[in-house]
Amino acid sequence: MATSKPRTAPTPSPIVNVLNSEVGRYHRWCTPSILESQERIDDFYSSDVSISAGFFGSLVDHTGVFGEAERFAANAQGADRTMFSVHGSSGSNFVVLRMLALERSDALVLVARNIHHSVINALKAFGLDFRFLPTPYDAQFEALLPPSADEVRAGLARYPEALAVVYTSPIYEGLAAHTEEIAATVHAASPHALVIVDEAWGGHLHFHPDLPTSAMAAGADVCVQSTHKLAGGLQQTGLIHWKETRVDSELMEEAYREYVTTSPSYHLLGSADAAVRALAAHGRDALGEAIERTARFKARVRERLPLLEHLDEPAWLDGVAGNVNGEDLIKATFGLARYEPAGFAVAAELVEHGIVIEKAGIGTLTFITTFQLREEAIEDTVAALEQVLAGRERPDGGRRAMLSNPFSAIDDRPVMHPYHARRYAKSIGHELSLREAIGRVSAEHVEVYPPGVPVILEGFRVSEAAVAYLLETREHGGTIVARDTSLETLRVL
Ligand SMILES: Cc1ncc(COP(=O)(O)O)c(C=O)c1O
Repeated sequence: MATSKPRTAPTPSPIVNVLNSEVGRYHRWCTPSILESQERIDDFYSSDVSISAGFFGSLVDHTGVFGEAERFAANAQGADRTMFSVHGSSGSNFVVLRMLALERSDALVLVARNIHHSVINALKAFGLDFRFLPTPYDAQFEALLPPSADEVRAGLARYPEALAVVYTSPIYEGLAAHTEEIAATVHAASPHALVIVDEAWGGHLHFHPDLPTSAMAAGADVCVQSTHKLAGGLQQTGLIHWKETRVDSELMEEAYREYVTTSPSYHLLGSADAAVRALAAHGRDALGEAIERTARFKARVRERLPLLEHLDEPAWLDGVAGNVNGEDLIKATFGLARYEPAGFAVAAELVEHGIVIEKAGIGTLTFITTFQLREEAIEDTVAALEQVLAGRERPDGGRRAMLSNPFSAIDDRPVMHPYHARRYAKSIGHELSLREAIGRVSAEHVEVYPPGVPVILEGFRVSEAAVAYLLETREHGGTIVARDTSLETLRVL
């Protein structure tokens, strides 16, 4: 006799509950930045549809409504070609690096130290060889700056065979690279090398004249953008743009076909398309409002919390001008060096006041003026910061000691390619305490999230500065991404 499966009473989904009842309670100075004026899908559930309804066209063939959306986005963002991502910029970086691997499986890639882990993971996945470009680190604001044109020129002089230069711009804190100069340098130095910009944080740049020039407008060959970060779309949405002069579109399409899910959410694609169209139609006004709101926020912070340090101080920006060509005016980063608590603790306490920020560090806080943020968020946030920081100033005007650059030891060239280090990790690797691992070759990857830039990377030696930074981050409550998130052990070769 067939036994019937036990039934359980319906239970509410905690995820649905959080989305319906919790999210709206917070002032969210964090992604996604949703452009409210974009065209909206009426009913998510009744209109979910798949590729079986092929009369819409096909995403992978770039036909029908999808081809139409791609052409609009390319035109709006100054690209020759555009493809949509429903895997964020993480997926787009995989597609772009796969395109390089399809072109030359032994390609050498010059990567800036400020790249996101998805770039490193794609290099590992496709077995591409790479060298790091020296990239300055600013300890006060915990920022890995973009490379300067001179640093790129020197890298290409050492490795003229490089097939591409890859870097992040703008960086998490909103500082943009000299892409125009970098592109001119690379194109003059090499007949084939590509300038690939991870512009995950710059999908909105093209739509306001006071923002830094977008990568496509500055002459990059390829860029990826997270539409969900600052360009108005729902989570997961992104765009890959390229210029056809140097990029082989067939290879890019092939890489995309290999990677993309066969069941992309048409709702996400619709949101990305609608967001680009809304940005093109009235992005300038929406961004203008966000820029003004950010300026009001910073002014009030300067007035009421004079001990907080500002990344946009002209003197500080002058000091990094060789690497930085403009800043994203909808971001605010403050340094907490004159206060006792770490940024992680301040961010956690702000949540209790109904405020969520984009990123905290040991000594920093980063805020994004999202499209949906309301004006009252400014006063509520400044008042909350006053309460959280009251009485916690360092005595006698002292400042927190700055850590040395935790990223410096991962220099130019690995001792062993990370791909091989990972493969040998199980057979010849062994586990040591983090301190004992200093000077050894790591067999695994450790990072702090956000920003998701590798601090310890397999195949490279472990530095004292990286260990000090990770232990301090853990002590202050930052999020460690690693096999052993307690940092008790590190696998080395
Ligand atoms: C520079 C950079 N690139 C790529 C990504 C990944 O973007 P996504 O979340 O859209 O996958 C991030 C995420 O923070 C990032 O900071």
